[in-house]
Amino acid sequence: MSMNFQLSEEQKMIVQAARDFARNQCMPGVIERDEAQRFPREQISQLADLGFMGLMVSPEYGGAGMDTISYVLAMEEISKVDASVSVCMSVNNSLVCWGLEEYGTDEQKARYLTPLAQGKKDGELYIGAFLLSEPEAGSDATSQRTIAEDKGDHYILNGTKNWITNGNSASVYLVMAQTDPAKGPKGISTFIVEKNWPGVTVGAKENKMGIRASDTHSILFNDVRVPKENRIGVEGFGFTFAMKTLAGGRIGIAAQALGIASGAYELSVRYAKERKAFGTAIAHHQAIQFKLADMATRIEAARLLCFKAAWEKDNGQDYTLSSSMAKLYASEVAMWAATEAVQIHGGYGYVKEYHVERLMRDAKITQIYEGTSEVQRIVIGRHITK
Ligand code: CAA
Repeated sequence: MSMNFQLSEEQKMIVQAARDFARNQCMPGVIERDEAQRFPREQISQLADLGFMGLMVSPEYGGAGMDTISYVLAMEEISKVDASVSVCMSVNNSLVCWGLEEYGTDEQKARYLTPLAQGKKDGELYIGAFLLSEPEAGSDATSQRTIAEDKGDHYILNGTKNWITNGNSASVYLVMAQTDPAKGPKGISTFIVEKNWPGVTVGAKENKMGIRASDTHSILFNDVRVPKENRIGVEGFGFTFAMKTLAGGRIGIAAQALGIASGAYELSVRYAKERKAFGTAIAHHQAIQFKLADMATRIEAARLLCFKAAWEKDNGQDYTLSSSMAKLYASEVAMWAATEAVQIHGGYGYVKEYHVERLMRDAKITQIYEGTSEVQRIVIGRHITK
C-alpha cells in the first residue's frame, strides 16, 4: 500500500473555492434562514454555477468530474458554516446523480442526469430528491408500502414518503416502491418521477430541530402514471439500488458531520483565545485546552475515516463498511464536539449569534438520516460477523 496525505493542486483549489463560498455566500444570513426555515435557493443556485451540484459526475453529463476526496473536502468546508446548504448538495450528488450515472439508461442520463448535475435547466434551479423513507419504513427500509402496479407500458404509483430532503425544491424524485410485494426486498423497484406529474402532492413542510433551512416534506402519490422507461434497472433492483446509493451518501453525510464538528472546533479555538476569565484567556485553562485537544484529535480521526471511504470508492473497492464506519464515527464526533463547543462558549454559546447552538442542533440529524447510528452498527456488525 502506498500512502500520500498530500492534496493535489486541484483538491486545494476545491477547498479554497468551497471555503470562499461558505464565508461569502453562506455565512451572511445563515442565522436568519435557520430561524425562518427559508430554503437557501440563491446559495444552491451559486453552488450549481460552481459545479458543486454534480461534483463527481462525468463532464460528459454536465458534471465537474472530480473525485470523492474533493467531494469530502467541499462538503466539510460548506458544512462548517451551513449544513442546510450542504445536505441539499449531498443528496443531489450522492443519492440522485450517482445512482442515475451508475445505473441509468443513456436516455435517462441525457434527460435527467445532465440538468441535475448542472443543478439547472433553462436557467432555473433543477435538483433531485431520494424517496425511500415512509411513515412506517425508516430504519426498516425493506417494509415499503408504496406500490407501483404494472399496467403494460406504464406503472401506477400510490403511497406516501416521509422526511424527504429537497421535497418541495426538487424537480425530480427517485422513488423506491414495491412492484411485487410477495417478494419482499426483492420486489422493490426504483422510478424516476417528476414532481409536476399529475397525482404528485407535496405534503406539509417539517418544522425541524436543525438544518431548518433545508426543505423537508412528505410526498404523496395518488395514481401517478409512471412510464416504463422511467424505471431504473430491472424490476426488483430497487433495494439494492437504495443500499448501493446510500453507501456513497453516507460518505457525504460523514463529511457533513466532519464539517459541523470542525466548524464548532474552529469557533471554539477562536473564542477561547479571546475570552478572558480568572485573569487570562480561557484557552490557557487546562479544562478548556483538554476539550480542544480531544476535539482536534477526534475530528482528525473522523477526517481520516472519510478519506479512507472516499479513497476506496475512487479506487473501485467495496466501500460499504468504510462508509458506515465514517458516518457512524463522524456523526458521533459532530454531536459531541458541538455540545462541547456550546460548553466552552458558556452563556454566549446558548444564544444564536455565536453559531454553536445551531451547529449543535444541526449535528443531531447526522446521527439519524441516511441510516441512524444504530443502522450503521448493524451494517458494521454484520460485516464483522458474516
Ligand atoms: N448492497 C447490496 N445489497 C444489499 C446491501 C448492500 N449494501 N445491504 C443489503 N442488501 C441486500 C441483502 O443482501 C438482502 O438480499 P438477500 O436476501 O439476497 O441477502 C436484501 O438486500 C435485504 O437486506 P437485509 O436482509 O440486510 O435487510 P434488513 O431488513 O435486515 O435491513 C438495513 C438492512 C441495513 C437495516 C437497511 O434496511 C438500511 O440501511 N436501513 C436504513 C435505511 C436508510 O439509510 N434510510 C435513509 C433514508 S434516505 C435519507 O435519509 C436521505 C436524506 O434525506 C438526507
